[in-house]
Amino acid sequence: MRLTLKATVAALLVALTAAIAGGVVAATQSSDEAALQPTRGPADRSIERKVNNLLGQMTLEEKLQQIQLLSDGQITDEDARNGVGGVFSLTDPQRINQLQHIAVEESRLGIPILFAFDTIHGFRTIFPIPLGAASSFDPDVVSDDHRIGARESAAVGLKQIYSPMVDVSHEARWGRIAEAAGEDPYLNSVLAAARVKAAQGSDYSDKRKVVTSPKHLAAYGEPEGGRDYNTTDMSEQRLRNLYLPPFKAAIDAGADTSMCSFNAINGVPGCANEHTMLEILKGEWGFDGFVESDYTAVAELRACPPVNPDEGPCGHGVAEDGPAAGALALNTGVDSEMVSTNIRDFGEELLADGRISQERIDDAVRRILRVKFRAGLFDDPYVNPDRADDAQLRPGALRQARRAVGRSTVLLKNDGILPFDPSLKTAVIGPLGDNQHDMLGPWWGRGDDDDVVSLLTGVRGQSPGATFAQGCTLSNAEPPTEDPEGCGSDAGFAEAVATAEAADQVILAVGETREMSGEAAARSNIDLPGMQEQLIEEVVSATDKPVAVVLFNGRPLALENIVDSAPAILEAWFPGVQAGHGVADVVFGEVNPGGKLPVSFPRRVGQVPIYYNHEPTGRPCDPNVKWNSRYRDIPSCDPLFEFGFGLSYTTFEVSNLRLSRDSVGPNGSLQAFVDVSNTGDRRGDEVVQLYIHDPVASISQPVRRLRGFERVRLARGETRTVTFTLDKSDFGFYDNSGEFVVEPGRIDVYAGNSSKADMSASFEVR
Ligand code: NOJ
Repeated sequence: MRLTLKATVAALLVALTAAIAGGVVAATQSSDEAALQPTRGPADRSIERKVNNLLGQMTLEEKLQQIQLLSDGQITDEDARNGVGGVFSLTDPQRINQLQHIAVEESRLGIPILFAFDTIHGFRTIFPIPLGAASSFDPDVVSDDHRIGARESAAVGLKQIYSPMVDVSHEARWGRIAEAAGEDPYLNSVLAAARVKAAQGSDYSDKRKVVTSPKHLAAYGEPEGGRDYNTTDMSEQRLRNLYLPPFKAAIDAGADTSMCSFNAINGVPGCANEHTMLEILKGEWGFDGFVESDYTAVAELRACPPVNPDEGPCGHGVAEDGPAAGALALNTGVDSEMVSTNIRDFGEELLADGRISQERIDDAVRRILRVKFRAGLFDDPYVNPDRADDAQLRPGALRQARRAVGRSTVLLKNDGILPFDPSLKTAVIGPLGDNQHDMLGPWWGRGDDDDVVSLLTGVRGQSPGATFAQGCTLSNAEPPTEDPEGCGSDAGFAEAVATAEAADQVILAVGETREMSGEAAARSNIDLPGMQEQLIEEVVSATDKPVAVVLFNGRPLALENIVDSAPAILEAWFPGVQAGHGVADVVFGEVNPGGKLPVSFPRRVGQVPIYYNHEPTGRPCDPNVKWNSRYRDIPSCDPLFEFGFGLSYTTFEVSNLRLSRDSVGPNGSLQAFVDVSNTGDRRGDEVVQLYIHDPVASISQPVRRLRGFERVRLARGETRTVTFTLDKSDFGFYDNSGEFVVEPGRIDVYAGNSSKADMSASFEVR
């Protein structure tokens, strides 16, 4: 059901939340009201009583303080004494405790502060970047990441993490594609839910748990031109079919906070967006937690130049000044303002002028207090700083991080040279061959470069005496600089070639620096930076040694220029603290790679956006025929490597797709069975993938949609049957009025081991 009376939504939500909070839910609700009912049950009633009790004692000023979220650089003792709601990016347990003592013992009502941090792929034990971990197609990998990240974060006194990042993206130029699970809503949804459950457990008041915050609501992954923060124009059906599902999955898994985004959708900024925050998140989904704005995103609602520059940045031009920005954000669903201070500073005047309501202020504060009670902060607000270090970098955590690297690497090409024999003489070459800093990726939490096992160290652990030559150096400098990428000279290439020549086998480590991806790190060119392509060319052509290229990067790269010459290519992403050990495990065959690409790799940047689950056109691409949807200068319609692609040291056959029935009612379900056999000569993992396509629908449906996957380990010669269940959540879709529809007609099912899967069967929806 969809809500259409926008103007009434905010008021209705506030009234309902208040009613439920008071334990009074009208027996005769309208169906609209029923849809707005928070999902939590009676277990929370005692919390609601406590929240109401506290709220009843609060002054307006104290309520406005709760709505304020300050950074580590902003927070003062005075803020804690005044009852500020949250603090983020502060990770020193002594200081956290000190501020918490002030808040609890010296503020009038003793409301504890919620401390938050960006634990995106680890706090101290840094795991592979989320795009890398998504390559594992294994929810256990991201569960390990977030279970350990939560424990390490909680040990310093943090109780909220700004994760999972669930922004589906088709934009290889966008630096933040590194932070989520790639281009597919289903894979993003499965992994988002796993991250939430692992970080929160069944009860995030547990001392080892934290509350999660799926972000950035919404469609932040499609900035025009790939430039961060840029605008997005988005149909309702795409918003709901592609971008919102991972948020819904995270909320259903228990996430109790969420962050609104910097970007505008259809001219409406994420932190002024009634449709996404109020109608969908808090309305349709019954979310009863709170929404924090992204960093100064409320101030950015103002027009530039701002009336008052002291109030921070500006830009969107949907509010005239700070008070207008604060009112707009609060009225459209923001409950907590990060860094800028408009709601806090102007709240009193806005209320007096009737531009915001007391009910809405109470609703925001109620949501914040509810999360703090659920987090157990009122019972046990402090951390023991003496025990904080014990929780970090534990041997078991490092083992899990190493395993995650092995499961997240993707073998893109192998002319039979891998795995290498560790007893032979190995050379490690390349700018990232003995690197610690970049291995941590763009969100390194409190990871320390010194903790990182470089590739060279990992390789020497298995192939003692391995030699090294850097070839060239990449740059970590921030543009504008003369040489923002580095590797601008071939001066070191001769030494690299000589080192390769003197060895039996060569690992060539190239890619990006960690500064080249992540926030505010868009690239207009997604080739290997600097002269790294030439370095590969030189080493491969000047020697007759087997050369395996290992890639460290945070986005899909355009590898067209090296794919033919490189005999083997292993995509390792930014693997985190155990980079060297984990990659060496794969190179030497201790681990048989089984990762698959969570995102398409274009041939050239000009193909971007290119993604497997695109809609069909009336002139489907044919590279050889004019009047078709092709590039005249690219003799292919495909990406270089498609979504779901990845090789192994063994071979597999996926066969025998069959369905449990040939028709199903709109509320029914059916099973798809697929056999998978290991046809090679060593044990290995295959990711069996199930896609569907609706060939005739009221709006064009994507040519393929992933609706199931399973990573299975098979001994050589072994065959297993994998079962998938399909129901309307799979074969239904959202139309452009936001309705979820299940239309009668044929559904095609495809199974295989990449998005090119062409083994098919069909069933009928009656
Ligand atoms: C801005 C980023 O967009 C967001 O992802 C992050 O959580 C906040 N800064 C806080 O660090």
